[in-house]
Amino acid sequence: MSNHTDTLVIGSGAAGMFFALKAAEHGKVTVITKTQEVQESNSRYAQGGIAAVWSDDDSFDNHISDTLVAGAGLCRREAVELTVRTGPERVRELIEIGTAFTASHDNPDEYSLHREGGHSHRRILHADDLTGAEIVRALHARCAQHPNIQVLGEHTAIDLITAGWVARRSGEISPVEDRVLGAYVLNRQNDEVEAWAASIVVLATGGAGKVYQYTTNPPIATGDGIAMAWRAGAEVANMEFVQFHPTALYHHKLTSFLISEALRGDGGILRLPNGEAFMERYDERKDLAPRDIVARAIDNELKEKGLDCVYLDMRHLSADELERRYPNIDKALKSVEIDMSTDLIPVVPAAHYFCGGVRVDLNGATSVRNLYAIGETSCTGLHGANRLASNSLLEALVYAQAACDQIAANREVAEDRPELPVWDVGSAAHSDEQVIIQQTWGEIRRFMWNYVGIVRTHRRLKRAERRIALVQEEIQKYYWDFKITSDLIELRNLATTAQLVVRCALLRRESRGLHYTLDFPESDARFIRDTVIQNTRY
Ligand code: FAD
Ligand code: SIN
Repeated sequence: MSNHTDTLVIGSGAAGMFFALKAAEHGKVTVITKTQEVQESNSRYAQGGIAAVWSDDDSFDNHISDTLVAGAGLCRREAVELTVRTGPERVRELIEIGTAFTASHDNPDEYSLHREGGHSHRRILHADDLTGAEIVRALHARCAQHPNIQVLGEHTAIDLITAGWVARRSGEISPVEDRVLGAYVLNRQNDEVEAWAASIVVLATGGAGKVYQYTTNPPIATGDGIAMAWRAGAEVANMEFVQFHPTALYHHKLTSFLISEALRGDGGILRLPNGEAFMERYDERKDLAPRDIVARAIDNELKEKGLDCVYLDMRHLSADELERRYPNIDKALKSVEIDMSTDLIPVVPAAHYFCGGVRVDLNGATSVRNLYAIGETSCTGLHGANRLASNSLLEALVYAQAACDQIAANREVAEDRPELPVWDVGSAAHSDEQVIIQQTWGEIRRFMWNYVGIVRTHRRLKRAERRIALVQEEIQKYYWDFKITSDLIELRNLATTAQLVVRCALLRRESRGLHYTLDFPESDARFIRDTVIQNTRY
């Protein structure tokens, strides 16, 4: 017997929970999420804040223009307009449900607005330097009170179930237009695979930073939604555009820790070990140039001079100021004996954000009927070839609303709900070789970092392509021979995501935004288009 719900949301970060809150007004919503701690997500670690036109001296046109400039010619204009123009309304709704953004120090009736790289104005609302945690807290608190919302932790989605897949499985011909019917989900509380039937499935599974050896992302970011959608035949786009944040802390005791761009917005300067402020050699906007430029500049300095890291200098602010403005970063750095008011902060770039993902329209609808994708797992066209800082939380809210509106408008179109086939365990045995999963996981992350990182070449991409093919063969075998576990699900998705990044990177024979290749170092007008790929062998 399948479990039934009106809307199945996969993922409990900002996108999934904002959507759930809105969709619960129209029917029953089940949110499933991988971890026991249901607030765990990339959203939870967002520091800098959420960008929205808020002050009188800013305008929609400014925010639109900044987003388009950062996107290096590839943003979808309508997506930018939608996000920027409706964004402030969504932020107000966050405030209404109890999100406590930090008030201005000078005027407690106003919100404090940060500035980050690529923004021409101060427009980033924040909750100290723990913005994501505050947004996620408020959303989860509100959803917990809603009778139509059920949140299930320790439930990992394995694969989407589509009408086409069900038909092929029973030897019938696939429907011309495929549609999603639900998903197989590993209930980690009892290790059973459950079939979940739903009229609508929403992927809100976040990004895939864990594909790289060094990342700011928490362990959940394994590209599950992108890989599931790919396997279900949905279009995927722009996977070559992986954003590397310029300033992750370089410290062996505190890995994956982000040093927010807000610090550079507050006058922080990047320096070499000899004290040189090197960004002026790369861009007239210096330390506040868009991320792709700053990350590449750091990467170049590291490689050229054989350095382990560069340094962020915040010594122009007093200890009190730093503690007040960045309490979380200040505390974390002090825990490893770095005092920002007197010490330089060692930093390196790290994989941070996926601009590409499951291709959607302006309503978050994918190319498979009844399947939606919102938040980082989607590719809406907002970010183009490079995301403007703090635009992603905004995008998550705006597209959650847009998807909800379209789904609500189409509700009267009832479709039959066939009984879903039960998960076939076949002859799968329990594996006692966890070491193989760990080893393969590490291997993927290392070659992605070395061959598909900030600076690419055709040869390195081809090398990565060959490695991934081998690894995937091994994973496939392992997948069918052994009982499914959460680690195995993630490994399989990580490999697929890595493969999609390489495939898209090989198709873009130019440099643009976050995709930089030494073989084609210039942008080429013939490539002003999305890289759209689709799995035709599903
Ligand atoms: P997430 O918040 O990542 O949520 C994904 C959810 O899906 C999680 O609950 C996860 O457990 C679940 N999930 C994944 N796979 C499965 C599966 N197979 N089955 C069940 N559940 C699954 N953006 C900004 O705009 N401003 C910032 O200041 C900012 N700072 C950042 C700082 C850090 C350190 C990081 C890592 C990111 C930052 N970002 C920031 C980016 C931003 O946080 C994310 O892009 C955004 O929060 C993504 O939200 P989401 O809801 O799409 O995904
Ligand atoms: C940061 O605080 O630097 C992260 C902002 C973002 O990724 O949007």
